[in-house]
Amino acid sequence: MKELLTNEQRNWVEETWMKVQEKLSVVALRSRDKIPFWSVDGVHDDMKEGRLHCWTNGFWPGLMWLMYSATGEARYRETAEHIEEYLDAVLMNYNDLSHDVGFMWRLASGADYQLTGSEKAKNRQAIAACHLMARFNPTGEFIRAWNPDRNGEKTTGWTIIDTLMNLPILYWASEEYEDPRFRDVAMKHADNTMANHMRLDGSVRHIVKHDPVTGEIVGENGGQGYGIGSSWSRGQAWAVYGFALSYIHTGKEAYLDTAKKAAHYFISCVCEDWLPRQDFRAPEEGIFDASAGLAAACGMLEIAGLVQEYEKKLYLNAAMKLLMTIEEAWADWSDDTDFIVRMSTGSYKVKQSHNTYLIYADYFLAEALYKLKDCGPLFW
Ligand code: GLY
Repeated sequence: MKELLTNEQRNWVEETWMKVQEKLSVVALRSRDKIPFWSVDGVHDDMKEGRLHCWTNGFWPGLMWLMYSATGEARYRETAEHIEEYLDAVLMNYNDLSHDVGFMWRLASGADYQLTGSEKAKNRQAIAACHLMARFNPTGEFIRAWNPDRNGEKTTGWTIIDTLMNLPILYWASEEYEDPRFRDVAMKHADNTMANHMRLDGSVRHIVKHDPVTGEIVGENGGQGYGIGSSWSRGQAWAVYGFALSYIHTGKEAYLDTAKKAAHYFISCVCEDWLPRQDFRAPEEGIFDASAGLAAACGMLEIAGLVQEYEKKLYLNAAMKLLMTIEEAWADWSDDTDFIVRMSTGSYKVKQSHNTYLIYADYFLAEALYKLKDCGPLFW
């Protein structure tokens, strides 16, 4: 794909990758005993303090494994291995975990196993895959997202668009153990998501509520976006990247078509200035989500590698526009701060999570560059 880049794009990739390496070579040591989620006054916070089960806790070790894969430098591997040990404390904690065991252990232990062959990492990943399997509702053919009630409502039948990004751990388990059950469950869930979360215009619903006994759809919820009928941009990015990943692991054409449709919608919403709003249909301006743009760009780069020659540039150029614009507007390359990308948003409804630093934005910026430079294998 590199050969399709313009000189300007190619130079940007080289220069920005150098900046990522320079910054992370310092921060990997400074935060070697932390699991960051965001930062306070430029300093990484630490999710070990009471939030070890958080869905984001695979991104920091995942970022370290990406850097190790690209550079072979021991500092990254040591930090990643160290953090994986901490995550063991929640690996068997059914109550506090969720469908997000894929985000957590695929990036942390999946990458470890792929790069080092560690049996311990393989076992962690297998346990996480079994946890995800146990969340499958066979009547409704969906994976349940969360455990706790939300606003007094049971979430037993709730599915969310984000789960797509957790399916690769099931595809891995099927292949590793030569056991079709994991893949069947992943595909049933992906099919269900395609039928019920995708709208005709290519936008997505964040949350769909099913009756957990019959599987019937009984409602929806705007989730982390503005509200019902709105368009949460990171959820849209999960659809772009998640369906592309399901296609990569299964070869089912409908997943690639759906990923493309989700990408076309994403592009149509950002193409004016390439700075993603947190919700493409929210009434007020000024709430952004860099992480949505960066995750969508990673998905578009994968799509560019999968489509016909004449289509490649559409996805590649959209990904490059997102990456270059977000980097120019919102990246912080100073060694004094632990984070790189500003202006991501956790949830529309949580004001203190607006326009802030979030670890997964850094992860997806690095992953996009890692892909563009062909640094190593895909860890999803
Ligand atoms: N998976 C939760 C989020 O994207 O915020």
